[in-house]
Amino acid sequence: MNALVVGASGHLGGEVARLASAAGTSTTGSGGWSRLDITDRRAVLDLFASVRPQYVINTAYRASSWTICADGAANVALAAVAVGARLVHVSSDAVHGGRPTPYLDDDAPTPVYPYGAAKAAAETAVAAIDPAAVLVRTSLIIGDERSAQVRLALDLTTGRKQGALFTDEVRCPIDATDLAAAIVELASSDYAGLINVAGPEVLTRAELGRLIAVRHGLDPATVPTCTIAESGMGPRPADIRLDSTRAVGLLETRIRGAAEALSVA
Ligand SMILES: NC(=O)c1ccc[n+]([C@@H]2O[C@H](COP(=O)([O-])OP(=O)(O)OC[C@H]3O[C@@H](n4cnc5c(N)ncnc54)[C@H](OP(=O)(O)O)[C@@H]3O)[C@@H](O)[C@H]2O)c1
Repeated sequence: MNALVVGASGHLGGEVARLASAAGTSTTGSGGWSRLDITDRRAVLDLFASVRPQYVINTAYRASSWTICADGAANVALAAVAVGARLVHVSSDAVHGGRPTPYLDDDAPTPVYPYGAAKAAAETAVAAIDPAAVLVRTSLIIGDERSAQVRLALDLTTGRKQGALFTDEVRCPIDATDLAAAIVELASSDYAGLINVAGPEVLTRAELGRLIAVRHGLDPATVPTCTIAESGMGPRPADIRLDSTRAVGLLETRIRGAAEALSVA
């Protein structure tokens, strides 16, 4: 088997590549082993034609770039279809606008900010180009210091960065290794369409930050916190809980809660 991991120099992509290789899959990573700009459609088609992967996992993104998130995802889907590869596309809970009740797998996107809109556009493009693709909606990705969420909490707590973690922004954080294992499992299944894969524990960003502080030997009381309104930021989806019941029933991978994954349970 031959897998191509798009975004393998990143946190999640690196974990997917590591697990796929450990499972005996021959793995090519883009961004790391083989530089690729997914906004360059010709380059994507050429790389896929030369690697001829059976599986493609697309973890590549940049939150500030519509072109990378949306157009890039479409280019990857076109290239995967062109070589007959099975595609797992990684999406985000940011496609949702926020509400107190959990979101189910097939709930339509209701984005409220540009990143969420770009990820929603990517989902629509990928599903139209490749109806057999898996679209994994996930939440805050935690783990070691490769995690942007972990680095943010540590930088704010130690004063390397100014700002605060929200006490009223709710998510379902997931460990990168658990998510990568679920993605590898989904790649070898025949599942098609949207699926939520997020952690079982519902936490505010502030609560998550305190867990991260404890994990790193810092005083959790020193984690700076505020509300979204106090931060003065524009509209953000406050409460997004992903219901991952379908994934739990389908997958052998056990998804740990944030406290257990950070070993502070
Ligand atoms: N991080 C989270 O908390 C979170 C939450 C929900 C969903 N997600 C989703 O999870 C996925 C992975 O997130 P992550 O935290 O692992 O991201 P990450 O560590 O920032 O990695 C992103 C990867 O995308 C690559 N990339 C960026 N622009 C590219 C381009 N034009 N062409 C090719 N590759 C490009 C980067 O390569 P270079 O570094 O070489 O530029 C890097 O390998 C994304 O789809 C994201 O939307 C993340």
